Amino acid sequence: MCGIVGYTGSRSAQEIILKGLKRLEYRGYDSAGIALSFSDRIEVRKAEGKLLNVEKVIEPEKAVLTTSHAGIGHTRWATHGAPTTQNAHPHRVGHVVLVHNGIIENYQEIRERVLESGRKPQSETDSELFGFMVLDEMEKGAGLAEAVRRAFAGVEGRCSMVVLSEKEPGVVVGVRDGSPLVAARDPEGGAFFASDAQPLAEYVKEVLYLENGDLAVATSKGLEVRDLKTGARVERASSPLEWSPERLEKGGYSHYMLKEIHEQPATLIDTLNALVDRKEALAPFQLVQGKASELLEKATEIVFVACGTSFHSAMVGKYWIENFARVPVHLELASEFRYRKPVLAPGTLLVGVTQSGETADTLAVLMDAKQAGYATLGITNVRGSTVSREADAVLYTAAGPEVGVAATKTFTGQLVALITLAGFLASRNRELTTEMRSSLFSQLIRVPHLMTDFLEENSGLGSSVRKAAVALQNVSGFFFIGRGTSYPIALEAALKLKEISYIPAEGYAAGELKHGPIAMIDENMAVVVLAPRDSWRDKTVSNLEEVKARGAKIVGVGHETDQRLRQLCDHWIPIPELKMGTESIDESLIPFFVTPVIQLLSFELALLKGTDIDQPRNLAKSVTVE
Ligand code: F6R
Repeated sequence: MCGIVGYTGSRSAQEIILKGLKRLEYRGYDSAGIALSFSDRIEVRKAEGKLLNVEKVIEPEKAVLTTSHAGIGHTRWATHGAPTTQNAHPHRVGHVVLVHNGIIENYQEIRERVLESGRKPQSETDSELFGFMVLDEMEKGAGLAEAVRRAFAGVEGRCSMVVLSEKEPGVVVGVRDGSPLVAARDPEGGAFFASDAQPLAEYVKEVLYLENGDLAVATSKGLEVRDLKTGARVERASSPLEWSPERLEKGGYSHYMLKEIHEQPATLIDTLNALVDRKEALAPFQLVQGKASELLEKATEIVFVACGTSFHSAMVGKYWIENFARVPVHLELASEFRYRKPVLAPGTLLVGVTQSGETADTLAVLMDAKQAGYATLGITNVRGSTVSREADAVLYTAAGPEVGVAATKTFTGQLVALITLAGFLASRNRELTTEMRSSLFSQLIRVPHLMTDFLEENSGLGSSVRKAAVALQNVSGFFFIGRGTSYPIALEAALKLKEISYIPAEGYAAGELKHGPIAMIDENMAVVVLAPRDSWRDKTVSNLEEVKARGAKIVGVGHETDQRLRQLCDHWIPIPELKMGTESIDESLIPFFVTPVIQLLSFELALLKGTDIDQPRNLAKSVTVE
């Protein structure tokens, strides 16, 4: 939810922390701050709003602050306390200064103790209270690392913290317990901390994904990891960093989101390469991940748990698995499921779909299920994320770093993982012959070519997507409707549009319109009809006629040669035919073509509205609170 960076060593801490926070700003951007340690003091600077505001604050004193070689920084997504400068991190309590990501659940009780002792917190945050606890331990004689360890014993919740003290210049202490924190040894001496590996990519080739219950102590000499409970030293193996720093740049695009939309063909190829053995021509959709295969072999039913965009990809996955493999699949919003008393059949496999691998509700469901004896599988884009440690097995999508807050290429990566599961289970259940699976697989590996052509044609001024966006920029709201796998894509379309443009939008199963939502339709509304030429097309076209008759402006998304559909629409966005040369493409693969349309349409509308597309208001990429 929040982003943390810490550093100690021989380089300029200011530079590393500001650059690192920029990379982490997608995690939250309500306020930000930095603390820099000197031999005699710690300087803290913070500001409301984006990191840019902190940079402005420190601009006049940059030359002095840059001489510090240790410090911490934070970019915040507010949970306890409004997004004000006072509530921004780092928090200072006496000589202790800290940043925090997560929630201290027993903060009321700690706050009362602090107030009873005659002291007054400066902020409304739970985080600052931890500073009092560390200070108390240091006043009893403990060094910084030991004080953090002892203080943490009194904290309930899911947190990561990074702490400095003026009494120990150059020492940076990090704790991971629930919220993510990685550490890395600096080859030039010293060490780094960050909420994820992205900010470290330009300095190191390996990182240590700290485990829950780890306390890491960084000095200019290096890094030591200890057990938070006992204080005993523990060894943590380093993992290679697979993301090069270049992948974190915009690469000539105006926005990260646009770049990431265009990276989807590569995501498809990379994810397939990561998940299956492409050389195994006789066994298409066989997973290279042995443990995942083992769990899938045994699964009698599947429950997908997810939130937001990942919930929509899981819904497509449900349709695919039921269609191809005839395995019962249930789809659950993680935030609802965990508080109900769901009934799970024996043999059920719980699959958490989460690009970040950190979504609190999704993780909680998986952990509860695991404890109750069910098998768990994670589908995530982030190596070393919490889901990858907690689930029994994990399938990684290979979308690479996604910086835009609105998910795009990670959604496509999830679709690839899910169709692979469907193919795997279809093979297990002998529902599809080897020939049928081979044919589906060979069509799938050709989708990126068609997708690339489509993306090129639909970028820029003359594109049909841009024309529709310009014509409809002032409507009062959008409905997206579809049937079959176009229904979850309609839901995703409405979410995407709301997220980045703030235009009211809803997604509906086309057949549901007449059960209520159609009352909203008038000439000020736009209805985007997802009606590709699949088994549901004719029914969807009937629904189109219903909204057209009530005056809505119609945007049709359909196959190039579908003239009849085209004539019914005010605006027309064609998708590639289900053909590659003379070979036809299975209609199941249609989501890979409709998805870029709805992403680009949202992008173009947001561009016209002038919103902050890569960092929309009130959102954060990784939702580690419940
Ligand atoms: C929308 C979006 C969110 C996430 C949701 C779950 O663009 O990104 O709706 O999909 O917060 O996140 P993950 O997939 O990380 O569990």
